[in-house]
Amino acid sequence: MSDRPLMPSEVRRKVLSQHREIEQMLSELEAGVAQLGAGAVDAGQVKRAAYALRGILELHMNFEEAHMVPAIEEADGFGPERARHLHAEHAKQRQELDRLVDDIREARSPADLTSGVTKLANMLRIDIEEEERDYVTDKLLRDNIIPSDTFGG
Ligand SMILES: [Fe+2]
Ligand SMILES: [Fe+2]
Repeated sequence: MSDRPLMPSEVRRKVLSQHREIEQMLSELEAGVAQLGAGAVDAGQVKRAAYALRGILELHMNFEEAHMVPAIEEADGFGPERARHLHAEHAKQRQELDRLVDDIREARSPADLTSGVTKLANMLRIDIEEEERDYVTDKLLRDNIIPSDTFGG
């Protein structure tokens, strides 16, 4: 992995593509849980998939903290406040995720498993939507941070 700082537009593209991948995994998890009765999928597979997703989300949040936070911190005068807010959001999300994934792993019936997966998917979809609205915007993550009139007068 290179240490070269990513351009804000690259950060934006990567975060958005990670979000689409996470949404895809959520859909697959929901599809898996919906097939529980059919015999093709068992509870253990759903639990392992939820646990794997927890790991992927940790990597995703680490990526955002390493690359997106510095970029949105420099975007304008509200940067430091915005960075604090994103860190606080992630702290809440980590707690919530641990709780929901633990619930899924401890689920003893298909109904509990389904409800756990539904809660997890709903929470993550809302988080992604809010994050894209508040942070992953082309206004905050754009490459030309030097105003063009600096040189033009
Ligand atoms: Fe995030
Ligand atoms: Fe995110």
